[in-house]
Amino acid sequence: SPSDPDLVERARKAKEKLGNKVFVLGHHYQRDEVIQFADVTGDSFKLARDAAARPEAEYIVFCGVHFMAESADILTSDDQKVVLPDLAAGCSMADMATAEQVAECWDVLTEAGIAEQVVPVSYMNSSADIKAFTGKHGGTICTSSNAKRALEWAFQQGEKVLFLPDQHLGRNTAVRDMGMSLDDCVVYNPHRPNGGLTADELRAAKMILWRGHCSVHGRFNLDSVNDVRERIPGVNVLVHPECRHEVVAAADYVGSTEYIIKTLEAAPAGSKWAIGTELNLVRRLANRFAPEGKEIVFLDRTVCFCSTMNRIDLPHLVWTLESLAEGTLVNRIEVDKETEAFAKLALERMLALP
Ligand code: 13P
Ligand code: SF4
Repeated sequence: SPSDPDLVERARKAKEKLGNKVFVLGHHYQRDEVIQFADVTGDSFKLARDAAARPEAEYIVFCGVHFMAESADILTSDDQKVVLPDLAAGCSMADMATAEQVAECWDVLTEAGIAEQVVPVSYMNSSADIKAFTGKHGGTICTSSNAKRALEWAFQQGEKVLFLPDQHLGRNTAVRDMGMSLDDCVVYNPHRPNGGLTADELRAAKMILWRGHCSVHGRFNLDSVNDVRERIPGVNVLVHPECRHEVVAAADYVGSTEYIIKTLEAAPAGSKWAIGTELNLVRRLANRFAPEGKEIVFLDRTVCFCSTMNRIDLPHLVWTLESLAEGTLVNRIEVDKETEAFAKLALERMLALP
C-alpha cells in the first residue's frame, strides 16, 4: 500500500532534525513504507555488524524484531540507545526456547553423561538469555548466512551440537552442508519429559535439534514446490533455510535473505524464480526486477507476511523518530549487564568465524 504522504513528510523531517544522532537499520522483511527510511538494509548478520560499526550514533532505531534489537544493544557501547519502534514486534521462533527450558535441557544432557561433549550453537533468532547460555557453555551464535561455518567450528570444539531454537536451520545445515544424515539428528521437545528422548538416543546423536521453527517459513511444503514447478516450467526455486527439510531438499537454491537478493541480482533476464521467504521481501524483489525481465513469484500464495515484522509500520516509525527528535527516549531495548557479558562472548565468537 502506498505510504501516507503526510507521515512520509513527518518521518523525513524528524530524521533530518536528528541528523547523525540517529541510525536506522531495516531488516529485509520490513514493509516498503519503513524500508524507505532505513540508512542500511540487510539480513540478520549484516545488521548486527552494521549496528556495531556506528559508534557515533546516539540512537540506533532497529526496524526488525526484538531479538535483533537486543543483539544490537549487546554489540553497541553502553551510551548508545537501541530503540524498537513497536515493543510487540517479537519472533515466535525465538519465544520457543526460554531460559528455564534450556537450563532443564542442559540438566538432561548432563544426566545422560554427554553435556561435556556438547557445544551449543544458537541461531540469532533467540533471546539474549539463550545467547548468554550459549556463551557460558562455550558455544557460538550463527545466522542463516554462516550456519555452516558455525557448525564446522563447533565440531572442532566438541563431538555433538545442541542447535537452538530452529530445528529446520539446524537439520538443513547438518544434512545439506555438512554431509550428515537425518539419522544423526534427534529433536529435543521441551514440552516432554527428558525432551522426549532416551539417554541412548541422546548419546547416539550428533545434532540435538531444539523443537522450534519459524511460523512463516514452516508453512511452505513439498506441494508448494511441486505446484509451482508445474505452473511455471523452468522456474528456479530459491528458499530460506528456515523452511522444512523436504522443501530445502526439493529447492534449487537455499540461503539467507541477503543471499536471495544477491542471487536475483546476478540472474539473467528472462529467468523465472519462485521464492520461499517472507512476503514483503518477495514483493519488493518482484517489483524491482520486473523491468529487467526477471519473473519473480511467491513460492506459495497461501503463506503470508511475518505478522511481528509487520508491526513496525510508518505510524510507529514516525512516533519513534519524532519522540527522539524532541528529546524523549522511547521503546529502549536494554539487556542487563550479566546477560550481556555472556551473550557478547557468543556473538563475538560468531563475528570471529573464518
Ligand atoms: P536472515 O535475514 O538472516 O536471512 O534471517 C531471516 C529471518 O527470519 C529473520 O527473522
Ligand atoms: Fe521470526 Fe520467522 Fe518472523 Fe523471522 S520470519 S521474525 S523467524 S517468525
